[in-house]
Amino acid sequence: MTQAALITGITGQDGAYLAQLLLNKGYAVSGLLPRRSSDTLWRLRELRIEGDVNLIDGDVADLSAVLRGIRESKAAEVYNLAAQSFVGTSWQQPLLTAQVSGVGAANVLEAIRLTDPAIRFYQASTSEMFGLIQAERQDETTPFYPRSPYGVAKLYAHWMTINYRESFNLHASTGILFNHESPLRGIEFVTRKVTDGVARIKLGLQKELRLGNIDARRDWGFAGDYVDAMWRMLQQEKGDDYVVATGHTTTVREMCRIAFSHVGLSYEDHVVIDPKFFRPAEVDVLLGNPAKAERLLGWTATTSLEQLISMMVDADMRRAREGRPQA
Ligand code: NAP
Ligand code: GDD
Repeated sequence: MTQAALITGITGQDGAYLAQLLLNKGYAVSGLLPRRSSDTLWRLRELRIEGDVNLIDGDVADLSAVLRGIRESKAAEVYNLAAQSFVGTSWQQPLLTAQVSGVGAANVLEAIRLTDPAIRFYQASTSEMFGLIQAERQDETTPFYPRSPYGVAKLYAHWMTINYRESFNLHASTGILFNHESPLRGIEFVTRKVTDGVARIKLGLQKELRLGNIDARRDWGFAGDYVDAMWRMLQQEKGDDYVVATGHTTTVREMCRIAFSHVGLSYEDHVVIDPKFFRPAEVDVLLGNPAKAERLLGWTATTSLEQLISMMVDADMRRAREGRPQA
């Protein structure tokens, strides 16, 4: 029988790659689609899977809609990727972030419990929960110290997932994913902002790129690799928590150098530091230890930062040449 899955956040970066992965494995894939006045399907179109997924109207903040989505999709696996996921915005919209990125997960867990507790559940947890880091390399045992309303909301969702696993014996897993990027990354995140800027500067469409704290360090991987870890978690005998990371950390400054040099430019000639992009509280450094995921899931990151950034710059050069919107 065909296995069915429901993805909340299917129109996002990870949702699109996960939908593609599950379709390739023969799943019937549904996605919860919140009402928006503008087109949000561009990623599904770029992967040429828009017509292959079943989109069900619904917002994770609305329990009744989530219940309907789970029933209509007949999902045996539910991946909760929906979030207000931009850290910077979470200071401007802390309560919306809490409703969507925090309570949204509780709605999905409740909907599963009420519909069929045998449904397997994945929660998109995040390295942002480590915030002010309490260990040099963060793993599943490292204490959390979130530094943004987004991180706090995600921590609630994380503990609710563990609580439902322990209280109701749900097959519920959390993936504590470190930053992962791709040509489908939203334009507001720093890697894509940089690769888009590099392409536009190279083609003479803009002169400078304004950034905030370029001394921050992140453990960046490729989103296409990371969605595979999500699927692997739900194929285990029991739900559990896993760090998914590359095990390398790099400054935003070095990432800029890689991106500009890919097209023969120097970042020092174009990057301008703008206080507007500094955050009220910063996560200075993230560095994950993915040993557990490697050991138990057989998962490993396969894409280097150089390969990732080159792929993103090339995609943005193509988009800029074709005059396509920045998406
Ligand atoms: P993303 O591109 O921002 O995608 C977020 C998705 O959530 C979009 O499809 C968005 O739809 C949807 N969404 C927003 N509000 C919603 C609502 N109220 N109801 C239903 N759907 C809603 O994020 P991503 O990079 O793919 O990340 C996927 C998940 O992993 C997120 O939960 C994120 O917080 C988490 N995560 C990401 C990373 C990373 O580095 N990428 C790392 C760790 C954890 P619209 O586009 O229509 O708003
Ligand atoms: N966005 C952005 N824009 N970030 C900048 C800029 C800028 O102009 N200049 C410097 N930065 C720094 C930020 O201050 C941060 O330290 C770092 O670049 C990365 O910022 P983002 O790319 O916005 O990602 P993030 O680390 O805050 O959050 C992402 O990763 C989390 C996992 O650790 C998001 O995808 C979250 O949803 C995810 O949970």
